[in-house]
Parts: sequence; C-alpha cells; structure tokens
Amino acid sequence: MSEITRSPRVMQKLQSEIRNCTTRKPGELDITKMSYLKMVVKETLRLHPPAPLLIPHESLSHCQIGGYSVLPGTCVIVNGWWIGRDPGTWGENAAEFYPERNLEYGHQTKRTNNHMETFTIFPSWLLTTLLVLSLFCFFLYTVRSKRSPMVVPELPPNPPKLPIIGNLHQLLGKPRHQALWQLSQKYGPVFLLHIGSKPYLVISSSAMAKQVFKIQDHIFCSRPISQASKRLTYNYLDIAFSPYNNHWKKMRKLLVSEFLGPKRAVSFNHVLVAEIECMVRSISSHPSNTVVNLNKMFLASVKAVVCKVAFGKNYREEPLKGPSWEVMLDETMEILNGSLGDSFPWLGRLIDQFSGWNFKLEKCFSNIDAYIETIIDDHYNHITGEVNDDHDTDFVHTLLELSSIENPYDDRVTKGDIKALVMDVLTGGIDTTVVTMVWAMSEIIRSPRVMQKLQSEIRNCSRRKQGGHELDITKMSYLKMVVKETLRLHPPAPLLIPHESLSHCQIGGYSVLPGTCVLVNGWWIGRDPGTWGENAAEFYPERFENIDVDFGGGNFEMVPFGGGRRSCPAMNTVPATIESMMANLLYWFDWEVPDGVKNEDLNMLEEGSLVVRKKLPLCLVPKKHNWED
Ligand code: HEM
Repeated sequence: MSEITRSPRVMQKLQSEIRNCTTRKPGELDITKMSYLKMVVKETLRLHPPAPLLIPHESLSHCQIGGYSVLPGTCVIVNGWWIGRDPGTWGENAAEFYPERNLEYGHQTKRTNNHMETFTIFPSWLLTTLLVLSLFCFFLYTVRSKRSPMVVPELPPNPPKLPIIGNLHQLLGKPRHQALWQLSQKYGPVFLLHIGSKPYLVISSSAMAKQVFKIQDHIFCSRPISQASKRLTYNYLDIAFSPYNNHWKKMRKLLVSEFLGPKRAVSFNHVLVAEIECMVRSISSHPSNTVVNLNKMFLASVKAVVCKVAFGKNYREEPLKGPSWEVMLDETMEILNGSLGDSFPWLGRLIDQFSGWNFKLEKCFSNIDAYIETIIDDHYNHITGEVNDDHDTDFVHTLLELSSIENPYDDRVTKGDIKALVMDVLTGGIDTTVVTMVWAMSEIIRSPRVMQKLQSEIRNCSRRKQGGHELDITKMSYLKMVVKETLRLHPPAPLLIPHESLSHCQIGGYSVLPGTCVLVNGWWIGRDPGTWGENAAEFYPERFENIDVDFGGGNFEMVPFGGGRRSCPAMNTVPATIESMMANLLYWFDWEVPDGVKNEDLNMLEEGSLVVRKKLPLCLVPKKHNWED
C-alpha cells in the first residue's frame, strides 16, 4: 500500500484493472484476471522481502560453492534483499517500484529461478500464507518460551585461552596425548580446546568414547579437512582422511574385500611365512653377540610382506633414486600433523608460504607420488610377479583390472582411486604394525617373568617335525594377551585419526556444534585406573585372563584401532600378523639387552604425534635357542 500510494500512476492503473475485472454480480471481484495486481505484489516482495536474510540455512557436509570449500556446519545467510535489487539482474532501475518489469521478466523467472527464487516455486498467495503462518508460529514459540524457558545445553568446559592462538600454548613442550590427558584431569572427560580459530573436542573416557563410536557414530563419522591431507590423498580419494561420503564407502569396501578379506588370506599367509623364514635365517647368520636393531629388522620384514601382497614385489631395493621410503614416510607423518594455515586461516597461510611449509608439502607429495607411479608402471610393464605359487595376483593388479571393467563397486575405479588406496596401505599399514612389535618386544624384555612365561608357552605349543618346526599360534593364548596388553599401553596412534561431527548433538550433557574436530585420547583410555584398576600403568598381560575385552566393540575400554564406522579396517587381521612374527622370534632366539644395561632399565621414552613410537631404537642381542637342552 505504501508503494502504491507513493506512485499515483501505479494506483490509477491498478484500480482501473481491479474495477474492470468485476464479475456480473455487483461487488464480486475476479482476482484471477488481475494480472497487474499480481505484478504489484511481486514487485513489493522483490523490493521489500519481509525476511531479507531468510532464515539461516546450514550445510550438512563438505561441499564447494563458487569454487570455494564450505565446511559442514557452516551457517548460510542468503541476502534476499540484495538479490531482489541487484542491477546485474534487474537492470538500472532495480531500486524503483515498477511492477511492469514482471512483464519483461515474467517469461524468465520460470527458467532462471535464481532471480527471485521464491516466485518460481510458490505462487505469491501461498508465500504470503506461509509467511503469516510462520510469524504466528514464531509468536507462539516466543509466548511459550516465556512461560517455560528452554534449557539450552552449554558448550563443554574450555581451558582459558589466549587471544589469537587459543589453547595452543597448553599443548607445547610434551607429547600431545599427554598434554591433553593433563588437561582432562582438570576439565573432565569431555572438554573443548581451540587452536587458533578451530574448535577441538577432546574425549578422555571409555563412556564418552562409546558415545562417539557407537551411540552417535552416525554424527562423528567424518574427518576434518586439512591442506596436507587434501594434497596427499589426491583430494580425498582415500579412506583414512576422506570426509564421510559415498566415495569413502566405496573405497573402504574395496580395501576390505580385495586386500584385507578372506580372498587374500591365503596369499597373505604364504608371504608372511616366507618372510618370517627369511628373517629368522638372517638373524641366525649373524656372528654371535651381534647387536640387532629390531626397528630396522621389523620394518624391512613388515614392509616386504605388505608390498609383496599389495604390489606383487617386496620393494626391498628402492625403485627410485632420491629419499628412501622410510624417509618419505617420516616426512609424510610430519606433514600430516597439519600446518598453521589449518588453524589460522589468513596469517597461518602466509606463514606456511614463507616458512617453506608449502614447498615441503609439494616436495613430499611429488616424492611419494613418483614412488606410487613406479609401482603402477611396474604393473603395466609386467615387472611384478605372482604373489605365491598359486599364481595369485596382487592388490594393485586387481585394482587395475577393476579400473578397466564393469565392477561390483558401483562405479569405475580411477587411477586416482588406486593411488590413494596405495597411499593408505603404505602410510597406515606398515608403520603402525612395526611400532606395535617394537613396543611389545621392549615390554617383554623389561619383564623377565613375562618373557619366561611367554617363551615357555610358545615352545610348548610347537613341535619339531621333519624338515622344520611347526608353531601352533592358535593355541598361544598368553601371546594374544601380550599383544593386547601392548596395544592397551602403547596404541601406535594415541589420538587415533581426528573425527569430525556432522551435525549438532550432545555429549556428556554438553552441546557439540557441527564441524567440531574430535580427538579421542586412546592412550589415556587404555590407562585409566577407573577402568583398569590400580595397576593400570603396569605391563601385566594376565589381566585379560578374566575380562573379555575386544578391540572394536564392547565398552571401548581400549581403542587402539578406534571405533565405529571409521575404525581400522585391519583390526581383525593385523594382530595375527604380529603374533606370528613375535612367536617365531621368541621360539628361535633368546634375547638380551647389550652393554650390561639392566632389562628393567630399558629406555621407554616416546616420540612422534600422529604415530607415536619408541624414541630410541630397540637394539638386542639374539642367542639361538639350544634345542638339545
Ligand atoms: C597394529 C596395527 C594398526 C593399528 C594400531 C591401527 C590403528 C588405526 C587407527 C587408530 C585408526 C583410526 C581409527 C579412528 O579414527 O577411529 C586406523 C584407521 C585406518 N587404518 Fe589402521 N591400524 C593398524 C594397521 C593397519 C593396517 C595393516 C592397515 C591396512 C592397510 C590399516 C588401514 C587403515 C585405514 C585405511 C584406516 C582408515 C579407516 C577409515 O577412516 O575409515 N591399518 N588404524
């Protein structure tokens, strides 16, 4: 009415249309014929949308808009007021009340519904009705909420933070999982941290881990994005760092059925047995009293097994000039820790550029990409052999076959997918296994009681037969407890891989916003005296005699493999590999600490952040067991 009153021309034209469109019955108006009236209402809503910023929307998952990344949980404000007045759309007289423009645009609005989106979807009467209804609901809500105030759960406790850096200073100077554990002693099993502008929810109890991995797994099953993970996973084509989406599901299905599943079990076992024989022979060939570096030896053996099964060749010889695979792996782990740019978007990115971090990332990516290219080229050039005598093909061979045919994995497997899967196997599958074996041997050496009990079990469950010795691992229950106890006290990834919440939820009575990065302190959960009793910090495998704790489910008393949808897909297979290797080492050899160091004084300091390993390499002297005694 205000606009019409301000414009006598419009008033006159409108009234004449209305008065001409009456039906024969005096006073009955035929609104359907009043096209100018409709234009006037449209023009009013264009210039004066009653909710100029609409009601805020929120993104549910990662996506791109206009070429930019949008994080999940981002509040989206659409400026409907400006969209309706944009001269780029509405011409130079955009600010003028000129209902006739709808004659010119009328034919377009149906096609290009971004000019005034509402009109193409709803007729104006429906829109007005909806608006009135929503105002009414809002009114009711306000009256109601005055009567009984709604209790909005508060955010989790947050240690006091400094401007700009947030809580960063509280994490410096000690391993991250230990710093977070100390904070959890003060702020509880659920607390919030800020590194720069980024919120982190820290979980430090098995009850809260159950919330994350089981009860609200559907909310906490995504991963945060970072510059390093984006680049090193070929833009999230992998499993470990990919946000929760259909591509992740497809890739995980591929890894589980084509690499970790029963299909590959026979060739895996065959390769493992051959590699263990090779390791035992190599140790036996050393002159007596030679010190063996177990870190190096385990790495060579585990890498050979994984490479042979996954790539058809053990890649003992480096395929390329340049940094060795071990150096590349260390660089990758360091880079994956993240950059300043991830937490301090503007200044941090600038520092990443000038400090050389971006250059380091590119170099790391190109080295590892060249390595993976060589593995794939070797397949094209038929350099790789069969995995075993049964002519089994390797994992990459299977993937290349799947990439060229219709396959059961919903859509085509691309070369990028193959590279990202190889990256997961190389970075996730080897180091974690080696680190666990080193910790296990270190703990056993430190405890002569455990060593003696374990060796006697292993030797009792084995028999000498013609042509060799047969170890029956299935009967070695104490060995299984030793491996479990190792993973309880020394989970190789103490903070797992960060999870991310997909939507609003509550945990421990606190509100969690979507897009919050979640760190589960698996290191502390496995050592919590509330769960494990007073001797929680002690290496005591017998504790598993009376309690049934499994890795992936139950009550999450220990979470070395994480949990829920994002749990480690190798959790059911990898302990058996570790058990086989350990059983053989302890069956064939007795082990001593060199240089008169007392067993119990073995250095157990930790190092690393994504994967935490023993700081000093484990060097021991093997003594061939005398079978004649
Ligand atoms: C002792 C050995 C291992 C340990 C302790 C371990 C531990 C873990 C942990 C803690 C996670 C993160 C779980 C979470 O965020 O909730 C993970 C994820 C993963 N692990 Fe392992 N892992 C081991 C061996 C392996 C092996 C042999 C492979 C196979 C190639 C593997 C492949 C993966 C993959 C692909 C993921 C990502 C899963 C996803 O995000 O969906 N891991 N692992």
